[in-house]
Amino acid sequence: MRIAFEGVSFSYVDPVCQEKRRKKARRRREAGVIEQPTSLAEHGRPAWGSDPEGTWALCDVTFSLEPGEFLGLAGHTGSGKSTLVQLANGLLRPTFGTVLVDGRDLADKEVAAAVRGKIGLVFQYPENQLFAPTVAEDVAFGPRNLGLPDDTVAHRVREALRSVHLDADEVGERSPFELSGGQQRRVAFAGVLAMEPEALVLDEPIAGLDPVAKEEFLQLIAELHSRGIAIVMVSHNMDDLARLAERIVVLNNGRVFALGTPAEVFAHGDELRNIGLDVPQAQKLACELRECGFDLPRALYDAATLAADLAPQLGGRAESALPGAEAPAPAGAAAGAPPAPDASVAPGDAAGPGADPQEAGRG
Ligand SMILES: Nc1ncnc2c1ncn2[C@@H]1O[C@H](COP(=O)(O)OP(=O)(O)O)[C@@H](O)[C@H]1O
Ligand SMILES: [Mg+2]
Repeated sequence: MRIAFEGVSFSYVDPVCQEKRRKKARRRREAGVIEQPTSLAEHGRPAWGSDPEGTWALCDVTFSLEPGEFLGLAGHTGSGKSTLVQLANGLLRPTFGTVLVDGRDLADKEVAAAVRGKIGLVFQYPENQLFAPTVAEDVAFGPRNLGLPDDTVAHRVREALRSVHLDADEVGERSPFELSGGQQRRVAFAGVLAMEPEALVLDEPIAGLDPVAKEEFLQLIAELHSRGIAIVMVSHNMDDLARLAERIVVLNNGRVFALGTPAEVFAHGDELRNIGLDVPQAQKLACELRECGFDLPRALYDAATLAADLAPQLGGRAESALPGAEAPAPAGAAAGAPPAPDASVAPGDAAGPGADPQEAGRG
């Protein structure tokens, strides 16, 4: 499945409607009728906060999700990510422009109905939408609505729960509200998977989970992707995006700010910082080490590649020149992943002072 955004703009306040309302209100005022405005639209309030004249939550957005692709979606709060994911599965319709699913306009009701369920949308905190008395009934809700026969629904429920590493025999008859937060999120996820989607659109899927549950969830998402499901994942965690996404779209104030592979996007650390974003921890450290004279030629670093490239440049020197040197030791750990043994021994004069405290502080 290919989902293409072509020149998509979206306003929560319909600009045509807004203009009509303004004119009507003006006429009434001129006729001496005094009334209180009753809605945001009548105030003509902006859809996003930073620009008082702004109406557009998304503005002229063009990109596509290719079949089976893993696309990361980043951007500051209010940049339009959640709006975009709702447009991607037809929950919202563009004010201007089109969203095409395999070349067909998603604004067309028949197209929307045909792809319903094929593009699974997992909202932020999806466990808030659990409602049924048992886990099995909750997961069955979507497929049942498709009018599938009971045995097919039961099979899908079992498989969907298995996909999220839950056992239908164990949890199927329990209330979803008795489960832990992480398990509840799995159940909500299973409800979307039971629709057998070809594409999954995930709005900050790991927000609010503890580190272990986060990692399990990311592995789960990677597993689903490896089965051929296309993924759009909204995340504020650049390390996760760098690790998992094949391409990343960065939004800024409703517009596409950057689009490319993680290496291409994270090569522009300064620009990203200017719009309130960051680069992966190891990448940031690599940039600082490069400025200190280390030879780090890769376009994109993670903890493992950084350790691998640093080790030969540090070996020997650290032991002979800096016996027991301790200050720079956390350089590898600061990258947010287990350091390679060599990376924990860095030269005191170069890598340590600039990179270390800043990285460690971000934890
Ligand atoms: N239901 C809504 N009604 C009006 N404005 C909204 C609504 N939802 C979001 N917005 C506005 O649209 C802009 C984009 O929001 P959103 O897509 O939620 O951004 P993000 O997910 O990147 O934080 C925000 O400025 C927000 O205020
Ligand atoms: Mg959001």
